[in-house]
Amino acid sequence: MPLTLAEWDQRFRQQATWTSDLRSYLYPKTGLEKAQKVLDVGCGTGALIPELCAQSEAQVYGGDWDTACLGMAIRKAPAGIFFGGDAHTLPFPADTFELTLCHFLLLWVDDPVETVREMRRVTKPGRGILALAEPDYGGRVDYPPAFAKLKDIQTQALRRQGADPYLGRKLRSIFARAGCQEIMTGVLGGQWSESPSPAEQALEWSVITEDAGGTITAQELHHLQARDKLAWERNERTLYVPTFYAWGKA
Ligand SMILES: C[S@@+](CC[C@H](N)C(=O)[O-])C[C@H]1O[C@@H](n2cnc3c(N)ncnc32)[C@H](O)[C@@H]1O
Repeated sequence: MPLTLAEWDQRFRQQATWTSDLRSYLYPKTGLEKAQKVLDVGCGTGALIPELCAQSEAQVYGGDWDTACLGMAIRKAPAGIFFGGDAHTLPFPADTFELTLCHFLLLWVDDPVETVREMRRVTKPGRGILALAEPDYGGRVDYPPAFAKLKDIQTQALRRQGADPYLGRKLRSIFARAGCQEIMTGVLGGQWSESPSPAEQALEWSVITEDAGGTITAQELHHLQARDKLAWERNERTLYVPTFYAWGKA
């Protein structure tokens, strides 16, 4: 069964927890606190919008072409300004924002170079453009080996949905081709002290089940899910997806 909007929101907020340390590191460097206008492109259900409003006096803008997601973003941050539209053609004059960012967006767009070029156009010269999280499923690591097939399932599912599962490795080149200056790129490290909660595991498996889309049997999926739960309980499970970030100046 497809995920509901509330489940997607939960998923986006879960993904935002994975990059929270990175954001704490990058926001001060990119001048968020003193910005007057900040734009979150492809803001989805607004996972980042409340913290942007809280950490800055800037007027925060969020845009997405999915109006159902936007509705949820608006409810999270009534003080934000939201617009429905395509990331390739942002409805703002040049040099409008002090900081323009995105989070898990570029893998989904048709033309990531054009999207970053557009983000650069609306950003004031010398100010920040930030792609906070772009995964690369080609580097996904699963252990024990029984879970290796999850990498193929997810990679193929992303391709079927029109996403680029290998976007992460291309991020620096995308920023360079879009004309960004002083580009800094990196990859998020992983840290695990505890297994994911039952709710987090359930959400992960809802996504995997939807991604699998009939490529393996329901019985095999069920079996893998049970083994996954056991492996986490025994502290044997490793799951890592390299997630890249880039910061450049307009
Ligand atoms: C994985 S979600 C991430 C949402 C949000 N940035 C977050 O991190 O929670 C990707 C979002 O990009 C939006 N999106 C994809 N392509 C887009 C495009 N060309 N223009 C505008 N939004 C787009 C989708 O509708 C979706 O909400």
